[in-house]
Amino acid sequence: MSGRANLPLAKKISKILKCPLLEVRIENFEDGEIWVKIKKSVRGDDVFVIQTTPPPGDNIMELLLILDALKRAAAGRITAVIPYFGYARQDRKDEPRVPISAKLYADLLQTAGAERVVTMELHAEQIQGFFNIPVDHLYSAKVFVPHLKNLPLSDYVVVSPDTGGVKRTHAFAKRLRKGIPLVIIDARREKNKKKVFNLIGNVQNKSCIIFDDIISTGTTIIEATRFLIERGAKKVIVCATHALLTNGASEKILASPVEQVFITDTINVPPEKLNSKIKVISVAPLFAEVIKRIHKGRSVSSLFN
Ligand code: R5P
Repeated sequence: MSGRANLPLAKKISKILKCPLLEVRIENFEDGEIWVKIKKSVRGDDVFVIQTTPPPGDNIMELLLILDALKRAAAGRITAVIPYFGYARQDRKDEPRVPISAKLYADLLQTAGAERVVTMELHAEQIQGFFNIPVDHLYSAKVFVPHLKNLPLSDYVVVSPDTGGVKRTHAFAKRLRKGIPLVIIDARREKNKKKVFNLIGNVQNKSCIIFDDIISTGTTIIEATRFLIERGAKKVIVCATHALLTNGASEKILASPVEQVFITDTINVPPEKLNSKIKVISVAPLFAEVIKRIHKGRSVSSLFN
């Protein structure tokens, strides 16, 4: 079944699985509060709830209400399928008096009734440890790599646009081509607030693939692209899993030197935010396969080996 945050993706998954979406009524009261009703019995059923959770927070609230409704309807097993796990960027107490939002979100999911979580490209892999239930963490490299295989990869390097993304980018590079060089941009603000970039690796006369988990305002990938070109890169393409595309990001990407941006449909991007540089690759086949394997009790990890 699906919440309302990304119905097109849920419909694609349901079509691939040849399993119709469970009928559900989700409505808003006049004041905006959400009301949910599962229309058929789910007693004893293996239920997968597909709900991605970018802002607004209502997407999370809707998921929690659906989980609660399923739990109270005595569903056999409830799996929350969360293609984009929001509130993941605050995953530790890195300064006094701040929340650990990702931990709170994980607690809420379990309290509401989730018995298993399937998600993709968490901002930090250790968020899996915030749960006391199984978490299947999928990697978007599986989705991007087939679309990159026809590039002359011996001419390419893979770039992490910040030091925080090195492990993720390294895993992506390994899946793309054995031995492809990994380059790291160390971008940090100095005391005068000016952003200073350092490059670890060489991009002279190379084509670059930047890999990142999120594009929000687009600033990270655009600044990284400009820097790489200044340092002699021939061209830059980007693969980014979750396309929030806020604050005119699409227009900025179009006007920037980035050659092409591959994103996925973990978040539903409205057509007006797409342009000739942005190509969407669907994660539906992968999520469908994973749902099938979980239902049948088969290995998920072997999909990624
Ligand atoms: C940062 O840690 C993330 O991995 C992304 O690089 C960041 O969220 C992208 O945001 P923006 O597009 O606003 O620069």
